[in-house]
Amino acid sequence: MSKNGISRREFFESSAAAGLALAATGATSKLAAQEKDKPVRVGFIGVGSRGTVLLRLALLVEGVEIPAICDIDESHLSRAQRLVERRGQPTPEGYSRGPEDYRRMVERDDLDCVICATPWAWHTPMMVATLEAGKYGGVEVPAAGSVEECWQLVEASERTGVPCMMLENYCYFRNVMLALNLLDLGLFGDPVHSQVGYQKDERMLGIGPDGEMDFYSKVRSQANGNLYPTHALGPAAWLMNVNRADRFSYMVSMSSRSKQLGDYAVEKFGKDHPAAKIKFSQGDVNTTLIRTEQGRTVTLYYDTQSPRPWDPILRFQTSKGIFMGSFEKIYVEGLSEKPLTWEDSAGYYEKYEHPLWKKFGAMEVSGLGRGVSDFLAVHQFIEAVRRKSLTPLDVYDAVSWSVITPLSKQSVANKSAAVDFPDFTRGKWKEERKRIYYDV
Ligand SMILES: NC(=O)c1ccc[n+]([C@@H]2O[C@H](COP(=O)([O-])OP(=O)(O)OC[C@H]3O[C@@H](n4cnc5c(N)ncnc54)[C@H](O)[C@@H]3O)[C@@H](O)[C@H]2O)c1
Repeated sequence: MSKNGISRREFFESSAAAGLALAATGATSKLAAQEKDKPVRVGFIGVGSRGTVLLRLALLVEGVEIPAICDIDESHLSRAQRLVERRGQPTPEGYSRGPEDYRRMVERDDLDCVICATPWAWHTPMMVATLEAGKYGGVEVPAAGSVEECWQLVEASERTGVPCMMLENYCYFRNVMLALNLLDLGLFGDPVHSQVGYQKDERMLGIGPDGEMDFYSKVRSQANGNLYPTHALGPAAWLMNVNRADRFSYMVSMSSRSKQLGDYAVEKFGKDHPAAKIKFSQGDVNTTLIRTEQGRTVTLYYDTQSPRPWDPILRFQTSKGIFMGSFEKIYVEGLSEKPLTWEDSAGYYEKYEHPLWKKFGAMEVSGLGRGVSDFLAVHQFIEAVRRKSLTPLDVYDAVSWSVITPLSKQSVANKSAAVDFPDFTRGKWKEERKRIYYDV
C-alpha cells in the first residue's frame, strides 16, 4: 500500500483503465461532482524565475490551494508567499532551513502533489522523495541527469504507484497540438520522421570579475553533447508514439568544434580577462540521430552558442504529409488543395484546432513563460492529480527524453558511436496507449 492509500496494482489498474477508456471516448473532461469540488493541494520546491511562473499558472487552475512552499532563498520564498496571499489564500508555510528542507515539506499530509523547479541536480532526489511520500510529482526539465537517476525515478514511481510528470511545455504548443489532433483524428497517417531542435542564442556567460563561472558556464566548459534535449524531443516523441507501442532504440551524436563561446568571452570581457582563458568543451552545434524500435527516426539539434533567432523547427513527417511547425506550413495528402504544394497552416487551425487549445487558447496568460502552452502543461498535471489518474506525460516519457544528455555525451566522446537506450519500461512500451487530454 502506498502512503496515499492506493496499492500500486490498484493504482495502475484503475488509472490505466480510466485513462484509456476516457481517452477512447473523448470523455476526459467528465468528473464526479465530489471530485470537482475538492481542492487540489500543491506544494512548490524552488520558486526562482521558472518556479514563480509555474506558481502563478497553478493559481489560475480552478480549485488549487498552495499550503506549503520551499526555497533556500528566503526572498524568493517570501515573494511566492505574497503571491499566494494576493489570491486570497492563507500564507503557505515556508520551508527554508537549508537544501534538504524539502524533505520535511513533502511529508506533510495536506499535499496532493509537489511541483519542483530547482536547478537540475536536485530534480531527481526531490521527485524521488515526493513519490516516496505518496504525492504526485511534477518536475521541470530535465527530470534526470544520468542513466542512474533515470532508473531511480522510474523505480520510485513503480515502487510507490505514484505518477511523475515532466512539465514539458513545448508538448502543448499550439502547432504541436494541431499536428497531434490531425494524428488523433486519423487524418495524418503514421509518423515517420521528426526534425526538431533546441536552437536559441544562449551565449550570455555567467562569469564574474575573476573568471568564476555560474552553473551553466561551468557545464559548458566541461561537457559536450546535447545538454537540454527535452523541449525539442518531447513533442517529437509524443507525436511519434514513443512509449506507446514504440520506443527509442539507439542513437548517435556528433558535435561541431567549440569556438563561438570562447570568441564571445574575448569579445565580451577582453582578451586579458580570465574568462577569455576558459576552455569550453561544448561543441557549437550538436546533432543527434535517433532510431526507434519501429524504424522511425529523429534528427535532434542542440544549438545555443550561435547568433541565431529561436527556432525549435518542429518538422513532423508522416505517411500522409509533412508539417513544418516553426514556419507554419503544411502539406497533407487528401486534405491539401493542390498536390505537393505547401499551404499556410492558418486554415487548419480553423478546422482542426486541438480541443485543449479550443477551450483554453484565449486565456490571458501573456508574460507567463510561453503563455497558454505553459498553462496547459501545469493544468494537465493538476487535472490528473484531481482525478487520481495517469498523467498525460509519464515517468517513462520523462526519462527517455532526459537520458539524451548522458547518452549524447557518451556518443560524442566515442567518435559518435551508436549508443543503445535502456528500456526503462521493461517491455511495457509494446502496449498501445492513447494520448490523454483532461478537461476538454
Ligand atoms: N520549461 C521551461 O520553459 C523552463 C524555462 C526556464 C527554466 N526551466 C527549468 O526550471 C528550473 C529552474 O530554473 P530557473 O531559471 O527558475 O532557476 P532559478 O535559479 O531562477 O530558480 C531556482 C530556485 O530553486 C531554489 N533552490 C535551489 N536549491 C534548492 C534546494 N535545495 N531547496 C529548495 N530550493 C532550492 C533557488 O533558491 C531558486 O529560487 C531548471 O531546471 C530549468 O531547466 C524550464
